[in-house]
Amino acid sequence: MAEPGRSCPRHYRYSPAVFARAADVEARSLYVVGGLYGNPFALEAVLDLARREGATLVFNGDFNWFNADPTEFREINDTVLRHVALRGNVETEIAGEDSGAGCGCGYPEWVGDGEVERSNEILERLRETARGFPDLCARLGGLPMHLVAEVGGLRVGIAHGDAESLAGWQFSQEALRERPERAQALIAGAAVDVLACTHTCLPVMQDFATPRGTALIVNNGAAGMPNFRNTRFGLATRIANVPSMEALYGARLGAIVVEAVPVRYDHEAWLARFDRVWPAGSPASVSYRKRIASGPGYDVEQALRTSSNGALSRAA
Ligand SMILES: [Fe+2]
Repeated sequence: MAEPGRSCPRHYRYSPAVFARAADVEARSLYVVGGLYGNPFALEAVLDLARREGATLVFNGDFNWFNADPTEFREINDTVLRHVALRGNVETEIAGEDSGAGCGCGYPEWVGDGEVERSNEILERLRETARGFPDLCARLGGLPMHLVAEVGGLRVGIAHGDAESLAGWQFSQEALRERPERAQALIAGAAVDVLACTHTCLPVMQDFATPRGTALIVNNGAAGMPNFRNTRFGLATRIANVPSMEALYGARLGAIVVEAVPVRYDHEAWLARFDRVWPAGSPASVSYRKRIASGPGYDVEQALRTSSNGALSRAA
């Protein structure tokens, strides 16, 4: 058996064909919020974004991670579960007893052993907190792994990982660069125009030719952490019939725009809260504090994979 944190449990898997179904949700304007990671200030910010335009929110997993404090655990989950939500590997692992999957991240070879080990330790602490909330855990465990939304006739598949696994990495920026043919086969098999995902921590938007026409994979990275060098905001995916003034980049598919929109939360308040729960030397501090303070070594230009047909564009 693979080491904890490296494996992808069998019950995490599904077929891309599950997306070839009638829409579960119809929306005029939709925000897909992946990787909130227990940041209550980012949650406030996305609620505000959605409220301003009457948009539907879909939380596609890992809304828990740094919220090991019991009060924060309850508040984040109480609020998120009022909206449409999918479970990520974090919710799946804390809802059930230890399956040996560790954090369930299914980390690929390019993620170091130290990071995987610390991830398992974070999950253990969060699982300890979650045990105090059996009712919430039951609700988290009962959340679906995938969803189909329709926005203005556009079919949008939503998952946490990729089109065949809750914790899949095929739609990570690394795999999309190195094995685009694999991602292309998956999105073609899903029979959707857009596949919105998260889980792999860095955002990317890339288009593919499929039998349905141009299809887009859009990974929002993290809503609750910075995604780009020297920035202090999270990112959400917005799908709507009118462009947002806030979008960093986006693509147009027919009458609908698919965009990466900043989640501008109170950075100082979040950093102070994070430091209180995860002080210097703790596994979360070692793995994530630098990124929370000033972003990863990744730039907007790297997230936007321009195509020959010019469907994608960076905001002016
Ligand atoms: Fe995840």
